[in-house]
Amino acid sequence: MITIINSEEAPPIKEEDLSALNKFSIEKGINLSFEWKEGQFWLHSDRTEERAIGIEIDRELARHEEFFKKSSLQKELLARAVGVKGPYRPKVLDLTAGLLGDGLLLLSFGCEVWATERHPVIRFLIESALQNAHHPRIKSFHFIPGDALKALKEPPDVDVFYFDPMFEDANQKSSPKKEMRIFRNVVGSDLDAQLVFKEALLLKPKRLVIKRPRHSISLSEKPSVEYIGKSTRYDVYFSV
Ligand SMILES: C[S@@+](CC[C@H](N)C(=O)[O-])C[C@H]1O[C@@H](n2cnc3c(N)ncnc32)[C@H](O)[C@@H]1O
Repeated sequence: MITIINSEEAPPIKEEDLSALNKFSIEKGINLSFEWKEGQFWLHSDRTEERAIGIEIDRELARHEEFFKKSSLQKELLARAVGVKGPYRPKVLDLTAGLLGDGLLLLSFGCEVWATERHPVIRFLIESALQNAHHPRIKSFHFIPGDALKALKEPPDVDVFYFDPMFEDANQKSSPKKEMRIFRNVVGSDLDAQLVFKEALLLKPKRLVIKRPRHSISLSEKPSVEYIGKSTRYDVYFSV
């Protein structure tokens, strides 16, 4: 079932979105409750004590902008992994947009970003957030709804493919952040990650960057370089 809170103020939802959301809700037996608030839709958790999730694009970009006034980009592992250096800013295809955490970070580095997302709920949140975004950097963001495998058939002309699939982490000791719990509950695991990885590698991008939990195994063969942070690792595969 789908519930819309503040439905009198909310814009009508496109037929195709409604039918995809309904299909997901019925197939997975998950009730979806969206609230229209501050100009965009937010997804409520099934637990009343948890905050709704939504993507605050302008706020996030402004926050990054402030941060990078004082901190060098070269301290950012993601920037180094995708190859940001001096004035060079790679063009990136983010194959796993999710809640745009990494996509917005890449944008704030000055990269032009294309991003794909296949999950109907997350796609809906992204499209709603994009309608509500006015920050100048958002002009360099191009959303491609649908599966990454489809986008890889005719990829945009980019330097880097970036891939951050959902994983089952056997080593994870702590429980995920609340926001991640709702997200995980809805999205589940990306069981075809190996396939996407292989297809992406076959296209020989300058770099293929895979985000992994620090202690987990690589998706496939050994990467050319690893950038290791406190909890995250970026496996980088060079093609040239
Ligand atoms: C771990 S999350 C990505 C988080 C994102 N990097 C961020 O910082 O917010 C993985 C997301 O990629 C999406 N995804 C996974 N495989 C995909 C594929 N083959 N095509 C499109 N989207 C995919 C999932 O639906 C999920 O929303």
